[in-house]
Amino acid sequence: VASSFPFSCSVQLWDSEEPVPRSELLAGVAGKDGLLCLLSDRIDKEVLDAAGPSLKVISTLSVGYDHLAIDEIKKRGIRVGYTPDILTDATAELTVALLLATSRRLPESVEEAKNGGWTTWKPLWMCGYGLSGSTVGIIGLGRIGQAVACRLKPFGVKKFLYTGHHPKPEAAVELKAEFVPLDKLAEESDFVIVTCSLMPDTQGMCNREFFSKMKKTSVFINTSRGAVVNQDDLYEALVDGQIAAAGLDVTTPEPLPTDNPLLSLKNCVILPHIGSATYSTRNTMSVLAANNLLAGLKGENMPSELKL
Ligand code: NDP
Ligand code: DGY
Repeated sequence: VASSFPFSCSVQLWDSEEPVPRSELLAGVAGKDGLLCLLSDRIDKEVLDAAGPSLKVISTLSVGYDHLAIDEIKKRGIRVGYTPDILTDATAELTVALLLATSRRLPESVEEAKNGGWTTWKPLWMCGYGLSGSTVGIIGLGRIGQAVACRLKPFGVKKFLYTGHHPKPEAAVELKAEFVPLDKLAEESDFVIVTCSLMPDTQGMCNREFFSKMKKTSVFINTSRGAVVNQDDLYEALVDGQIAAAGLDVTTPEPLPTDNPLLSLKNCVILPHIGSATYSTRNTMSVLAANNLLAGLKGENMPSELKL
């Protein structure tokens, strides 16, 4: 976006749902005042250098901002808009759906009903794990983590555990959630749900050591970012029966190549990053991202500005 005053904008649009090719992005961003990007666009030093000193605002159509080189952005005094809160409900709902699909083996069961594997009612066939009386561990009790916990509570969860940088007494009190070290969360949870942001200290956090501490009957769910998980270690844990099952809405890379070994496992349910994918949420996100950009260009307060 290039802007001028009194306020008007000329917009250069990549008019496709496919990601903008890197070369087009580098050429197109040159001399622009603002940039509206998706989580699939890596906004690094190269892009910022290509944009040059005119770039004042970056607005991302996401709450996650791990695709933005925040240090470089900060150095240049560029403001950043993002889309928190409005996608919390949709993402929490999807997290619960993924948890139930994984723990009650829904994709596998649907397949059996179609392929003739359903021969008769058998006492232990297609059994999974239920939430009632369970302990649920949440890695990152932020906006989405809290919304997931609130939705799971009525299923009869006995206890919530959570990790993070510091306890969140206001959020935890209603859930009676206990702040614990990561090891304890791994050891005691029947369901582990990852809803933290991707940061240097969460990258690869769920690795062999972590999975080795989990119960053999436990279910692992990730709706944050793929890079929080070491996928080779997860594959081993699933194949060796170290954990019972995993449900992932996010992977590394995205899309996950169709020959990735995780896709061959019956106890791994993989979704194509659809956490916030309801029509109304995506519409609201789009309007917010546009309003963030416009406010930033006008030098006004953004509806949702990331504190850098
Ligand atoms: P919040 O900032 O509200 O929550 C992030 C949480 O991560 C905070 O509670 C923070 O805890 C926690 N966290 C950070 N570092 C660690 C750590 N080392 N260990 C444990 N917890 C940690 O963000 P949202 O809830 O709005 O979103 C969370 C993430 O979900 C986004 O960053 C995005 O990556 C992902 N997301 C995925 C979607 C999807 O489609 N699958 C949709 C929307 C979001 P503390 O405050 O203690 O640092
Ligand atoms: C985000 O907003 O970070 C999600 O991954 C997509 O909505």
